[in-house]
Amino acid sequence: MAKTIIIGACGQIGTELVLELRKREGAENVLAADLRDECPAVLNNGPYQKMDILDREFVRQFIIDNEIKTVYLLAALLSATAEKNPDFAWKLNMEGLFTILDLAKEGHVSKIFWPSSIAVFGPTTPRENTPQYTVMEPSTVYGISKQSGERWCEYYFNKFGVDVRSIRYPGLISYTSLPGGGTTDYAVDIFYQAKLKKPFTCFLSENTALPMMFMEDAIRGTLELMSAPKESIKVRSAYNLSGCSFTPAELTQEIQKIEPSFTINYAPDFRQAIADSWPKSIDDSAARTDWGWKENYGTTELVNVMMENVDTSLLIA
Ligand code: NAD
Ligand code: SER
Repeated sequence: MAKTIIIGACGQIGTELVLELRKREGAENVLAADLRDECPAVLNNGPYQKMDILDREFVRQFIIDNEIKTVYLLAALLSATAEKNPDFAWKLNMEGLFTILDLAKEGHVSKIFWPSSIAVFGPTTPRENTPQYTVMEPSTVYGISKQSGERWCEYYFNKFGVDVRSIRYPGLISYTSLPGGGTTDYAVDIFYQAKLKKPFTCFLSENTALPMMFMEDAIRGTLELMSAPKESIKVRSAYNLSGCSFTPAELTQEIQKIEPSFTINYAPDFRQAIADSWPKSIDDSAARTDWGWKENYGTTELVNVMMENVDTSLLIA
């Protein structure tokens, strides 16, 4: 039976994390779990379990009975969706974390990955090259839940020795599955319109710079963090991690090098205020020093690989 579980496996990150973990650990050892009745076809190469992370007793019993030792907990509402349903976002983003932290505190689980986000920062945070340790006053329910989650992770490590590890992911860019309701989603959606040779309407203004990362870097970074020796993990809240940083206008210019006819227009909506409260770029020197993080993809490389691989049939799948 699988010894590693990814909860929230059918989403943007989970899909690629499951595939990479199955390559490394063997498909039968990596269990994908999600609220959905069925997983995407691309995950059919290994076990799948329908699971609601909010069903604490079911999750506890399943993990204990199956002797699962490593948990990647990805199920959450992202920033834009969370603003539309703050009560539920708080419930989902926090209760699942406690279920898994408690399993580790009781000795059933030995290692946890739980993702944080650049959303832990807020309007009073220095926005350029945002340090690992700085003012953190998030103004979104998503950011508040991620910051609280970080505090609880560190607390469970300090009080109970729980080996929980985390990264403050920037906006993640990928082509295997679609993004799930974040403020950085425009930077994925744009590629589908460029491939369809259609104009793109961006929900952020042209000069809104945000930290971003290609998914391959994010997955590699996650697995490097998870395999680093315990004693080298000095940050038990969550590590800053940087890939690249760009504005919608800069991204458009890069896409136009490949698709010169591509056009963009701007219609900022409620997500603009969220983006304006987040960093423009990130200082990730702690991750570099502690466990050797280094990104492979800058903006140009990211655009090239996205334009080559985006499959517009995903939009109707
Ligand atoms: P996503 O929305 O694409 O996927 C989330 C998955 O969780 C979905 O498949 C959904 O069905 C599942 N899910 C929802 N409720 C569930 C429940 N009650 N029980 C079980 N599964 C449930 O999200 P993602 O982009 O893959 O993000 C995963 C994690 O990474 C989240 O915690 C998110 O906050 C964090 N993160 C993502 C990004 C990004 O750019 N994608 C950036 C920073 C942090
Ligand atoms: N990409 C995520 C979002 O926009 C950042 O956590 O919500």
